Amino acid sequence: MSEHALAKRYNSWSALQARKHFWDQTTLLDAFRQDPDRARHYSLTAAGLFLDYSKNHIDQETLAPLLALADEAGLGTAIGQLLQGEPVNNTEGRPALHTALRFQGQAADARQREVAATLEKMATFVTAVHSGNWRGHRDQPITDVVNIGIGGSDLGPRMVTRALGAYHTGKVTVHFTANIDGADLADTLADLHPATTLFIVASKSFSTLETRENAFSARQWTLDGGCAEGDLHKHYVAVSSNVAAAEAFGIAPDNIFPMWDWVGGRYSLWSAIGLPIALAVGMDHFNALRSGAHTMDHHFSTAPLAENMPVLLALITFWYSEFWQAQSQAVLPYAQRLGQLPAYLQQLDMESLGKSVTRDGVAVDYPTGLILWGTEGTNGQHSFHQLLHQGTRLVPVDFIASAKSMSHLHDQHTHLLACCISQSQALLAGKPLAAAREELRAQGLPAARVDELAPHKVIPGNRPSNTLVLEDLSPTSLGALIALYEHKVYCLSVLWGINAFDQWGVELGKQLGTAIHQAMASGECPDNWDASTRQLVNRLR
Ligand code: F6P
Repeated sequence: MSEHALAKRYNSWSALQARKHFWDQTTLLDAFRQDPDRARHYSLTAAGLFLDYSKNHIDQETLAPLLALADEAGLGTAIGQLLQGEPVNNTEGRPALHTALRFQGQAADARQREVAATLEKMATFVTAVHSGNWRGHRDQPITDVVNIGIGGSDLGPRMVTRALGAYHTGKVTVHFTANIDGADLADTLADLHPATTLFIVASKSFSTLETRENAFSARQWTLDGGCAEGDLHKHYVAVSSNVAAAEAFGIAPDNIFPMWDWVGGRYSLWSAIGLPIALAVGMDHFNALRSGAHTMDHHFSTAPLAENMPVLLALITFWYSEFWQAQSQAVLPYAQRLGQLPAYLQQLDMESLGKSVTRDGVAVDYPTGLILWGTEGTNGQHSFHQLLHQGTRLVPVDFIASAKSMSHLHDQHTHLLACCISQSQALLAGKPLAAAREELRAQGLPAARVDELAPHKVIPGNRPSNTLVLEDLSPTSLGALIALYEHKVYCLSVLWGINAFDQWGVELGKQLGTAIHQAMASGECPDNWDASTRQLVNRLR
């Protein structure tokens, strides 16, 4: 097999191949036996987050070439370029300055002043809604807020709003609607009243099909509820960088919160796209979320690569992807309120890293973005964990836990944490054949049955995981956690030489969707469409 481009690009490649060979001959348990301090040696604290990465096929001899590879990739310089606002999004000629959205202190330049002014506008709005000064068309206070948006204009605010359930002020209830399936909006509105419901139309482009259709339907619902056209401004605000389109839709200019093209949709929850979060938890907690992220930004920009948490997480994923052929990455938050985290990370990670050409447009001949998936623990244990423990595929896992209980049921929290730890222990240690046989014998089974059953009970072990511990599920911890994954994604893009900040791949489906929608209306499909597509159009008309 000929050497692929990364093997040619990185001098450290052959040293890593040698380390892979080494790990093929030894186990993680051996590594723990040989280094009694292994857990401490491969753990790190940053921005209040504790990372134990010792249950990975990593040691100093493996980390050294990985870090050398990061140097060869120019990762240190690339981090500076991201944070200094250089046009790292080269296909669109833009910076990716989500970090500027969480700057702390006095605004020092025009961009920071714009951010500060928007935060001010958000604070004024949140106060008006919470205090009841913002009135609906029947002069009643707002009780419910519906965010209409999709992708980055939905997943971040939705995930954070749920995660910070312990911090909800209770002044308004925040709902989210995304899907073009009318059932989403209809179900959301079923128990709401037009006179006391406020909508946030969140769309960076203000041209997204789902958001526009949902916004039009919502507006009709408000009008049908007795609101005059002239009073719609009491029920509709928008967040967008396309002010003209928001105004054309009918949003009052004063009700439009700005966004900027230097913020990517999937990195935008720190902007006014975070308005639903601020309405749910209050502006102080929203700012604490920003501040937690800023602390992680500071760590990312100042820590040496060897002690840099996002860098280490990226190198570990790179190692398993390129040398162990891992195709997917599981993220398992052992926190009910982090249940939306995998869905949020799917967009962040897979929309950023699902690329097949380099920054220069050259086709890659190596794997890039992994398939990210997961759900909240312990629910997944009674579902797909079987495959993690006994399946044939290598799936590196990130376990995430909050040390502090977020409910008053503290005993259950101890069970939750015990389950989390036991899963990573089981992946590491497994159950060898001898132990399986012993267990069956101890149950008094006859020898023949022991022979029969033992192979089914073997758990290979030697499977990798990280464990990330948050002190609590607070705004600051959550902000740091999100920023950690944002930066990890960027580091991976640098190692793979791809652009993390465009998403041209989603365009084709949108273009074809428009043409098919027309065909469904007219019944006429172009002859050059494939027979399956024509059949489905005709069947579903
Ligand atoms: O279709 C993908 C996408 O462009 C995402 O990148 C984005 O977050 C989402 O659609 C929503 O876009 P907008 O905020 O412009 O409505």
